[in-house]
Amino acid sequence: APSSAPEEVGRHRSLAERVWVTYGREVFDITDFVELHPGGKSKVLLAAGGALEPFWAMYAVHSQAHVLEILQAYKVGEL
Ligand code: HEM
Repeated sequence: APSSAPEEVGRHRSLAERVWVTYGREVFDITDFVELHPGGKSKVLLAAGGALEPFWAMYAVHSQAHVLEILQAYKVGEL
């Protein structure tokens, strides 16, 4: 049976599988951003395969328009 979109996101949790995250209902393939993240590779990979919101709630540095602009460049779909 076809799996749901959230399950598909969850299959992309490493650089080898590609790294997908969600923000709201939008889905992003951030594989090419991992090495560019100002907060480091290990931090951004914590959100791999799931939602950004719980992490961004802890790191308010992301509550800026320029951060969302970066994210939009990696959009691949919607839930
Ligand atoms: C900083 C983007 C995910 C932790 C930043 C900055 C950007 C950014 C642009 C610099 C902001 C500024 O100084 O104006 C992103 C994007 C993410 C992401 C696009 C997802 C695709 C995460 C996650 C975490 C995280 C999941 C934590 C688990 C941090 C921390 C900093 C930071 C700690 C501050 C680094 C410093 O100034 O020393 N991020 N981030 N980020 N990010 Fe992220």
